[in-house]
Amino acid sequence: MTDILTIRRPDDWHLHFRDGDIMRGVVPYTARQFGRAIVMPNLSPPVTTAALGKDYRARIEAAVPAGITFTPLMTCYLTDTTDPEDLARGAADGIFTAAKLYPANATTNSAHGVSDVTKIYPVLARMEAEGIVLCVHGEVTDNDIDVFDREAEFIERHMRGIIANFPDLKVVFEHITTADAVEFVKSCGPNVAATITPQHLHINRNAMLVGGIQPHNYCLPVAKRETHRLALRAAAVSGSPKFFLGTDSAPHLRSVKETSCGCAGIFNAPYALESYLAVFDEEGALDQFEAFASLNGPAFYGLPVNEETITLERAETAVPETLMLTGEEIVPWHAGQTLGWRIAT
Ligand code: NCD
Ligand code: ZN
Repeated sequence: MTDILTIRRPDDWHLHFRDGDIMRGVVPYTARQFGRAIVMPNLSPPVTTAALGKDYRARIEAAVPAGITFTPLMTCYLTDTTDPEDLARGAADGIFTAAKLYPANATTNSAHGVSDVTKIYPVLARMEAEGIVLCVHGEVTDNDIDVFDREAEFIERHMRGIIANFPDLKVVFEHITTADAVEFVKSCGPNVAATITPQHLHINRNAMLVGGIQPHNYCLPVAKRETHRLALRAAAVSGSPKFFLGTDSAPHLRSVKETSCGCAGIFNAPYALESYLAVFDEEGALDQFEAFASLNGPAFYGLPVNEETITLERAETAVPETLMLTGEEIVPWHAGQTLGWRIAT
């Protein structure tokens, strides 16, 4: 039995840091585990220009604890009026690593998102030409589509069109939750990949709705049926370079989760690696963990693998029921549970 695992330092290819005091509170959790992270731009107001991206990056860098090396990789929030020139310059200047497509009103702080994907086709053409990665929140927002079908429907209504019109565009189908998305990504060329969160590997939709409503298991896209969870687990441990780690850690204080209209998002940053490791251990696939966590993402983004290593060891880790953030309670993913691994270094 493997009890110690030393791997290249992982990266988180999708997460939310927020801003201000919350950001300063959550950055250390990520920076202690990951070398880099793709930082989502859904602030209020969103990060829509290179100038805003540069300022936001500086605020994050200032929140990294002394003695830790951590590089935030910034994303540009696409809107109906994104200026391709500003985006291209931001990428050339090393401010933007990717741009993010939120269908308007799909999720938290996405009201300024894209109202019709074809409106940003000129931007996508420029991104394809410049090699800028497109990160996609792949859910339709149409009221006639059931919330559990929104990801699969997005593939038919939008994803196939994007890929067909921009065959060389690098696309990350983010936080996938369905077997449909797994199959779709596999069917595409090497320029299409997907991130998978820990929660979608651990829970199906029962965890949200059985035994009372469970707000801390609610995120978007929502967890689906068990068959989908099993397909995601198989993809994550398969060794395919198309699938890599993206936590989608999305901090919301307890007070806005446990309320009559609770926010979507799971705060998994504090024990992210321990959470993923539990899955790889259960699947008998610890030997595939480095590829998923540390190698596939950089390869897709065309970035070097982190030089440092991290050592993980089999040991019980008790996750607290709550953590404090800005003087208020926040409930971490796996609250009150014991996980089987911990970070040794
Ligand atoms: C995210 C958030 O809170 O910003 N919420 C979530 O449920 N994942 C937004 C997102 O990534 O959809
Ligand atoms: Zn997200």
